[in-house]
Amino acid sequence: MIIGNWKMNTARADALALAEAVANMRHQDSTRVGICPPALWIDPISQVLEGSSILLGAQDCIGDQFGAQTGCINAAMAADAGCSMAILGHSERRARFGETTESLLPAVAAVLETGMFPVFCVGETQIERESGRALDVVAEQIRPLLSVGLDISGMVIAYEPVWAIGTGLSATRLDIEEMHATVRDVLGRADALVLYGGSVSPESAEDVFSAEGVSGALVGGASLNADKFAAIVAAWERK
Ligand code: PGA
Repeated sequence: MIIGNWKMNTARADALALAEAVANMRHQDSTRVGICPPALWIDPISQVLEGSSILLGAQDCIGDQFGAQTGCINAAMAADAGCSMAILGHSERRARFGETTESLLPAVAAVLETGMFPVFCVGETQIERESGRALDVVAEQIRPLLSVGLDISGMVIAYEPVWAIGTGLSATRLDIEEMHATVRDVLGRADALVLYGGSVSPESAEDVFSAEGVSGALVGGASLNADKFAAIVAAWERK
């Protein structure tokens, strides 16, 4: 699975053109490819993607029912607009808006309830990695998901070391393998889909995908360029 996270990028015309290019991209049936544009462009892009195999996702949503929540979108709205997934708990939202796995549980439940799947992000900071706590930090970010009786078998986890996001840095193959194995251990599911994210590019993709246990990638910056995104998909399919 290769998912593009466009973050707060693209003017409307650029977004539609990029979605069109992704829709026309070739990929194997066995590779699931998706894009998560800014919320305002989800609806027009759902029309661009009609008839294509590209999955559409929201970058975030909240778990509340409809009501007085200025500026928010809920899971039902995202699903209604054509999304089949929602990124939750991205480190940029954890850092800026204080989101935690505990505070995200209603959103996880709401996303699952709509039939969408969450792409749930976890990852350690540089200080946590340097102090040898990376595995514990990520395990702690996952454990609350297991405590509330949700059926999270359809959930996708994205392991994104915070220090690798947008920096051009990448975790080593061994660190990726160790972390992905830890994520599956904590989940208790050997078959869980665990993506890697953080500066995945056409240049780094081959290395990242050679790590055992990587189920694909969550791609930020490189997903804003259709050729680079296609090259990452191609690297996955060559592996
Ligand atoms: P990046 O972002 O590929 O630009 O590092 C990845 C992400 O934050 O999902």
